[in-house]
Amino acid sequence: MRTMEEIIADYIMDEAKLPPYTLPDPLECADGSRVQSAFDWMTRRRTEVLRLFMEGEYGFVPPRPDRMTFEVLSVRSNALDGTAVRKEIRLHCARNDGREHAADLLLYLPKNAPGPVPVFLGLTFKGNHAATDEPDVRMFQPRMPGQTVEPRGSQAHRWCFREVIARGYASATACYHDFYPDFRDAVGQSIYGMLFEPSEWPALPDRYTPIGAWAWGLSRMLDYLESDPQINASRAAVHGHSRLGKTSLWTGAVDPRFQLVISNDSGCAGGALHKRKFGENVEALISHSCADWFVTAFHQYSGHEENMPFDQHELLALIAPRPLAIGTATEDVYADPKSELLSCFHASKVYELFGADPFTAQELPPPDGAFSTNAVHFHYRKGGHEQLAADWAYYLDFADRFLRTETDSTLPKTNLKGPRSC
Ligand code: GCU
Repeated sequence: MRTMEEIIADYIMDEAKLPPYTLPDPLECADGSRVQSAFDWMTRRRTEVLRLFMEGEYGFVPPRPDRMTFEVLSVRSNALDGTAVRKEIRLHCARNDGREHAADLLLYLPKNAPGPVPVFLGLTFKGNHAATDEPDVRMFQPRMPGQTVEPRGSQAHRWCFREVIARGYASATACYHDFYPDFRDAVGQSIYGMLFEPSEWPALPDRYTPIGAWAWGLSRMLDYLESDPQINASRAAVHGHSRLGKTSLWTGAVDPRFQLVISNDSGCAGGALHKRKFGENVEALISHSCADWFVTAFHQYSGHEENMPFDQHELLALIAPRPLAIGTATEDVYADPKSELLSCFHASKVYELFGADPFTAQELPPPDGAFSTNAVHFHYRKGGHEQLAADWAYYLDFADRFLRTETDSTLPKTNLKGPRSC
């Protein structure tokens, strides 16, 4: 196996050196017939595409727990300088045989909201205490021997809780390690340790993945939020940065309760097209020192992305007709921002089936520029691989168009009636 240094040295970083590539057409069914309508897409082709991603990239959706209970760990009514109510909730997921798995959710709600509020959900990399500058949020409890705990507030800049609250939204988070610690051989500490017998663990990577577990966690967080009378869970946005931006796209694909999907700097195996082969590639991903995020079948595409029967524009299409926001950054070149723009362009034909305006841009906007339709937003922030206030400003403006209760939700006057042509 080649070292990461050797793999990175071989990255294609020059547009002129890109090999020609052909993308699969999301509107062409497996039997060669064409999708003619939103009805065709939803009733047949979407299922085919979803299955390709399950078998070849992210794995299957893990089963639901038999039972869930929600334990209130704390409530503070004057959080964030008196603008918010803060709750810490332990989500207990259990099987009928008594096996349990728990995760801690941190929730901020705008104080004195006149009714249930829309909500943003995302996972933290470093624990709830690292996502906020408030000193009394519970510290993350390591899941793996030797796992370090980051200082309080070290990633608070990624969350912008005050801005989100000021716009009238709630914001919820939990640590991704709580659902699958991002280390090799962590299956026993993950949700799969509860859901499957130890004898089944060795074969799990053929069918289940850490990304699938993180997406499952976001769905369980939404289960809790559906039970909280202060939340309007029918107006929920899922967001994520980097590997968690890959995860937010997958979550949006498999859990249609999320009404807005936001993916920040997700790059390879996120918003970027594999077949373009610019920057980070499959070989780099599967050689990475973290846990294997993808199913075993994904490994066959290392150096052979052209053989994939799917590509990431189809992942974006799985989210249609729900609004989708993609954020990229000028210095995040390995993640191939142009490819994320092209994914939006190629996913557009599915959005258009639902009446969305075409996403016509095929060239990056200038730094700090954006391109949006009434369903898909793309921006190209100046700077590096981060999720910053400048990204949130775009996401909140976009969310205001769809999630606020005074607006009548999203676009598409979805007409699912019509001839079934494939
Ligand atoms: C690695 C990986 C990227 C990923 C990033 C992250 O660098 O190669 O694809 O986005 O981790 O999640 O931070």
